[in-house]
This record gives sequence, structure tokens and C-alpha cells, in this order.
Amino acid sequence: MVTSEKQVGNLSTALIVGASRGLGLGLVQEYLDRGWQVIATERRPGSSEALAALARDTLTIEALDIDDEAAIAALAQRLAGSTLDLLYVNAGISDDSSVPIGQVATAEFDRVMRTNALGPMRVVERLAEWVKPQGTIAVMTSALGSVSTEPSAGYDLYSASKAALNRLMRGYAVRAGAERTLLAVMPGWVKTEMGGDAAPLDVKTSVHGIADAIAARSGTPGLTFIDYSNAVLPW
Ligand SMILES: NC(=O)c1ccc[n+]([C@@H]2O[C@H](COP(=O)([O-])OP(=O)(O)OC[C@H]3O[C@@H](n4cnc5c(N)ncnc54)[C@H](OP(=O)(O)O)[C@@H]3O)[C@@H](O)[C@H]2O)c1
Repeated sequence: MVTSEKQVGNLSTALIVGASRGLGLGLVQEYLDRGWQVIATERRPGSSEALAALARDTLTIEALDIDDEAAIAALAQRLAGSTLDLLYVNAGISDDSSVPIGQVATAEFDRVMRTNALGPMRVVERLAEWVKPQGTIAVMTSALGSVSTEPSAGYDLYSASKAALNRLMRGYAVRAGAERTLLAVMPGWVKTEMGGDAAPLDVKTSVHGIADAIAARSGTPGLTFIDYSNAVLPW
């Protein structure tokens, strides 16, 4: 059990997947600041200097590429016996938003769908058993994945991958039953490598809002699609 050596009192524990930079790194900082014990994953071991700089007794760093099914299974084994209050799958990728879907290369379609839809759900399904019955499982999605909202031009593949993630979470919620709190979270448009400099929100504002929303919804069973301000979004 990874967490046992560093278990400090009865701290709440979060596993943040995809924490090398951007919003994932911000979530790690936010939960450490809130006094949680955090298990953070990065794709390549030791690759994130920013994550390493957060080192303290309450932080454990694990390696995980969510495209690697065997690595997910291996992490599930390493975490055996852990009790997580929060599993948060943040990892995701973007593509060239200007390419219409008919011109997307097959390999690119596979890459984006694998990382944004299949990978997160594999993580959720493999690691859910270590989340407390009253715990929270969250995935980072996007408002662009809302199929009931009129799309703007562009982002065809990325939007479809987040719509797929939303739909797969809804299917998971039906299968998993209603006990846990399940969240599909839109972080807002945020200044990160993915969001770019024109984004109106900084990472701190987004992750602070997300952590507040998770705290407010803790113990409320079932799946909800929310944004960083805890507003409910249409599927
Ligand atoms: N920023 C926004 O405005 C915005 C808006 C809506 C939704 N989102 C969503 O929010 C999440 C985080 O976005 P961000 O803006 O922080 O992006 P980012 O700065 O590009 O960071 C993406 C993170 O995901 C990790 N990642 C990518 N592929 C992975 C894989 N196969 N396995 C494990 N980790 C992987 C990256 O790790 P590496 O460092 O190893 O690449 C990095 O830590 C994504 O799901 C994104 O779609 C962002």
C-alpha cells in the first residue's frame, strides 16, 4: 500500500492523475494547501520539476501514462489497500483545433480518443475499488463535450473526445450504482499550455473553485456535469 508509510493522522487522500503541469499540478498544490494527503501521477517518472518541487511528507508521486493499460493495472496493484477520498482524472490532450473531422488522420483520431476518453475511463474503472464508498470520482472534461449546446466552428475532434468521455461517465454511473459522488468537471478556459495565454482564468482560480465544488458536493450520490464554479452544465 503506497500511502501507508506516509499516512499522517486521518488526512483525506486524493489521487490526481496527470499532475505534471497545468491544472493537474494546480490541483495537487490546492489539495496539499488544504491539508490533504496527495498521490500525484506524472507520465514519465521524475519528468516534472514543478511536481518534484512540491515534495513533502503528504505527497507521493507515481508514474502513469493513461494510454498504457498495463501501467494502469500496475498502479492499481501498488495502491491495493489504499482508501481514497478523491480520484481525479485530469490528464488530457488537445489537437489542431482547425482541422475538420473529415481531414483528421486516423492515427490522430485514435490518439485523441484514446487519451481523452478511453484512458480516463480505464483509470476510473480500475481504481474505483480504492475509492471510499462515500468518496468522489471526477474526470476533467470540457463544455465543448456538451452535445446539447450548439457547437462553434473548430475543435471537432477534441469536442467529440470530451463528449465521448461524458457519455462513458454516464454509462459508468449507471453501472456503478448511485452511492458515490461522480463528477464531470469543466475547469473553465484556463491559462495553461493547452488553454493558452488568452484564457481568462488562471490555474489557481480554477482549481480553487473545483476543490470548493467537490467539497460542496461530497456525499451527494450520482453523476453531475459541473464547471469550476459548481454551476451545473447541460449534457
Ligand atoms: N486549459 C483549459 O482551458 C481547459 C479547458 C477545458 C478542459 N481542460 C481539460 O483539463 C485537463 C488539463 O488541461 P491543462 O489545460 O492543464 O493541459 P496541459 O497543461 O496540456 O496539461 C495536460 C496534462 O495531462 C497530462 N497528460 C497528457 N496525456 C497524458 C497521458 N497519456 N497520461 C498521463 N498524463 C497525460 C500531461 O502530462 P505531460 O506533461 O507528460 O504531457 C499534463 O500533465 C485536460 O483534460 C483538458 O482537456 C482544459
